[in-house]
Amino acid sequence: MSIEVKADAAWRRLHEAATAPYKTAGQFAWRFARGKLGRDPVFRGLIERGLIDERHRRVVDIGCGQGIFASLLASMGVMQSRPGQWPASWGKAPAQVAYTGIELMSRDVDRAEASIGHLQPRPHFICADMCSTALPACDLVVILDVLHYVDHAAQEALLRRVRNALKPRGRLLLRIGDAGSRRGFAISQWVDRTVTRIRGHRVSPTWGRTLPDWKALLEGLGFEVQSLPMSEGTPFANVLLVADLPDTQPTP
Ligand SMILES: C[S@@+](CC[C@H](N)C(=O)[O-])C[C@H]1O[C@@H](n2cnc3c(N)ncnc32)[C@H](O)[C@@H]1O
Repeated sequence: MSIEVKADAAWRRLHEAATAPYKTAGQFAWRFARGKLGRDPVFRGLIERGLIDERHRRVVDIGCGQGIFASLLASMGVMQSRPGQWPASWGKAPAQVAYTGIELMSRDVDRAEASIGHLQPRPHFICADMCSTALPACDLVVILDVLHYVDHAAQEALLRRVRNALKPRGRLLLRIGDAGSRRGFAISQWVDRTVTRIRGHRVSPTWGRTLPDWKALLEGLGFEVQSLPMSEGTPFANVLLVADLPDTQPTP
């Protein structure tokens, strides 16, 4: 007889498992991980909508911060392998993910290494500028709240390289702020600057686009794009773009 696993209880267990390793890197890293994973609707949203599935074995996380997404993926794999822990409604998550995280800030990479660097398979963190570092071949690219840090030309150049790194039927999960929604976009910019300062980083200008502009850019690169509002419970204008490549790679 199959047991129905309740989604809320499963999420609490997943949240605990994915954030516990950050205790090793100190109170800040742990509290930050707990707050981010608990309050930002995108992580649970991705899982509940089945947007990360068993085909996504090679994952590149651009602007990965302290690697919360890597920890989440690893905990998903573990929970799924244990009877009675993974809700059937969440679909099949990938097991044994080969993860590469790219992050500009060495402090974040250090925290990631100290917390989850020992996981098996071992996550690979690259401390580098996403605009110039090579992207490995992959099935899934995740870019959450990162592209606005670089100008429009750099955004387009990076997305072109993402498209080229993804295999046919590969997926890009890109969360952006919709600059067309002025109030929400302004609030997210203000919070972003404040958090950037608290994390000890230099605050630089940011570059936004409206949702139709983001979609047009991705479609021009050969992606099929769906957009999902992804700021539930927050005052932001965040949108998750699920951008899929077709079976055959479009010409560069
Ligand atoms: C708002 S945080 C989001 C972190 C993570 N994606 C998440 O959702 O938890 C943006 C991250 O992008 C990183 N970042 C900004 N510009 C970058 C660049 N040029 N190359 C690599 N990482 C960058 C920042 O250092 C920061 O860790």
